[in-house]
Amino acid sequence: MVYTTEDFNRDLAKMTELARGDKPTDIFLWVQWEMARTHRALVVFWLQVRKQFSTSAPVDDAENFLGFAKQWVRSVELHHQLEEEVQFPALNPPVDTGKSHDEHVELMQPLQAYKSYLESVSSGSESWSAYKADELTQAFIPIMMRHFVEELYILDPDALRKFIPKETLEGMRQDVAETAKVRLDPARDVPPLVTHNDDALDWPPVPWKITEDFKIPLELYQPHKGWWKYSSHPLEL
Ligand SMILES: [Fe+2]
Ligand SMILES: [Fe+2]
Repeated sequence: MVYTTEDFNRDLAKMTELARGDKPTDIFLWVQWEMARTHRALVVFWLQVRKQFSTSAPVDDAENFLGFAKQWVRSVELHHQLEEEVQFPALNPPVDTGKSHDEHVELMQPLQAYKSYLESVSSGSESWSAYKADELTQAFIPIMMRHFVEELYILDPDALRKFIPKETLEGMRQDVAETAKVRLDPARDVPPLVTHNDDALDWPPVPWKITEDFKIPLELYQPHKGWWKYSSHPLEL
């Protein structure tokens, strides 16, 4: 089935709707809200990558653009790894995460093909083609978008409230934070969340207070500031 621009916009609108409002204090609401914020950020980040395909950036500013584009793939991979290793085992059972897992698997192969292409362009073994990049991404964007919406439905707060003890979710939240600390490279993995958060002050969860004037420590932003200039909300340095 063809996945149209209307389908894309509808799916993004659903993520946006579930990501609305301030950070919930009720953990049953928080689980879905946090996931929706993350999915929305990944999609907004994706749109910023896609926007550059037909510009001169992939050729004239190849190192920075490709750094930004490859980081997007890494962000999606990390998100799925945390789910597979920490969140799904905590939720399942009673929540059936089998379909979400299958969608991760389905996504993997075409995502890897796109990643390999970006790496080949980076190493100089292939030249940049917006057409080829577009074709490769069309193989997984529809799967990813549907997955990003469906996964939010399985985290329905009313269903969680009925079947899962609060303590399990609190433990899961802590485990995600601890695993993220080990897995994440702060100077690569945190800036793209901060610069694709719609200027929110309550997300992503970081160990400092985000304010209008202070979004992220400069030592985390500077190492790849050339990448982040392609973000939807880069820092004005
Ligand atoms: Fe997710
Ligand atoms: Fe997922």
